[in-house]
Amino acid sequence: MGPLPRATHLVTGPVVLSLALLSVAPPTGARAPERLAARPAERPPAATPPSSELPEDTLERPLPLAIPAGLEVAFEKAGWEEAAAGSPLGLDADLVALGRALFFDPVLSRDGSVACASCHRPEASFADPRPRSVGVDGETTRNAPALVNRILGGSFMWDGRAATLEDQVLMPLANPVEMDLPADRAAARIAEDPAWTARFEAACGGPPTRDRLARALAAFVRALVQGDSPVDRFLAGEVAALTAEEEAGMWVFESRGKCWRCHNGANFSDERLHSTGVGARGGAPEEGRFAVTGEERDRGRFKTPTLRGLAHSAPYMHDGSLATLEEVVEFYRRGGEPHGTKSPLMEPLELTDADARNLVAFLRALTPR
Ligand code: HEC
Ligand code: HEC
Repeated sequence: MGPLPRATHLVTGPVVLSLALLSVAPPTGARAPERLAARPAERPPAATPPSSELPEDTLERPLPLAIPAGLEVAFEKAGWEEAAAGSPLGLDADLVALGRALFFDPVLSRDGSVACASCHRPEASFADPRPRSVGVDGETTRNAPALVNRILGGSFMWDGRAATLEDQVLMPLANPVEMDLPADRAAARIAEDPAWTARFEAACGGPPTRDRLARALAAFVRALVQGDSPVDRFLAGEVAALTAEEEAGMWVFESRGKCWRCHNGANFSDERLHSTGVGARGGAPEEGRFAVTGEERDRGRFKTPTLRGLAHSAPYMHDGSLATLEEVVEFYRRGGEPHGTKSPLMEPLELTDADARNLVAFLRALTPR
């Protein structure tokens, strides 16, 4: 059995269950612009556009809340009994809708200037196009990762320090740089608004609390699923779904590129932590997982991200240090950055320039067109 999942059936379920990450028409009911105008002009935006302006919710309405084509195997492995494309994710639609409203609302930050979506932008696979995000009080130390198929995640944050999404979603609230409004205070703030309280009553059976906030936000993050890429269609038997370059790139991924050693399974992540050397300077890696466990062998280890949604989620890596997929492939070609605890799975690759180009084409084809 090859390292890539082979779906045994054609894509026959309800059409396109992936997120419309690129959907163009702004939804009716999009955020009114007053909130933008009310933002304090505290600091200039970071190096690259777009600025920290609040993005609009351009997702499908309502979200399909169904398993996307191509991920059946991954969901089955994660314990879903009925894991056909189109079968339910098992999420409560009201809870997801509440989490979605919260995700796009800057009310959850100390000064009302930053929403989750300020750093996790819908048009960027919910990643941040800036290498480092800007919160209420300065820059984050890491790049905001794509929020794609986190429902399948084993741990969260680049160093895996959050065990569940419910734990994770409270961290940016409490973080003094990011939103600086710990969940208890955030819950108390929104409880003052009868409209929010009514929504919480309807979706969670009680007024806003820390736990209900966490449940709603986590439910929304779980609803951000994506599959049905050209690669999925190809693997399901639609031979014309990939160009010759993309198909050649798939074989590089599986053979000489050795990418599947860590980016495996239908979500292209082993959900483990490895030391690739990203961020290592002069032979010294960053702490990475070491900061969580205190174990020397965890120095420099970061979580393997999914490769879905890549076409929109640049820049790449936990520090946003690689601007393009071409740079990512060059990084792997030279075997990562050398340092003491680098993974033995990372070694210089013998790739031709054509291999490298094809590999990039394949990586892009993991995002729906
Ligand atoms: C100021 C920018 C910023 C804001 C605001 C923000 N995040 Fe993040 N988010 C990040 C960064 C940076 C990381 C990676 C941090 C790390 O790993 O140390 C991250 C990581 C995550 C992850 C982990 C994903 C994974 O695969 O490990 C999730 C989930 C997430 N954020 C959801 C949220 C939610 C929900 C909110 C709103 C309550 C939010 N974020 C607000 C910047 C932000
Ligand atoms: C030893 C395990 C391992 C191997 C082998 C590996 N990767 Fe990775 N990959 C990772 C880890 C871990 C990260 C995150 C590293 C970091 O940010 O510190 C990552 C990050 C990435 C990213 C950035 C994704 C994002 O959202 O920022 C891309 C793209 C990627 N890898 C592609 C590849 C390709 C292509 C190959 C084969 C040439 C490959 N990887 C081989 C473990 C691996």
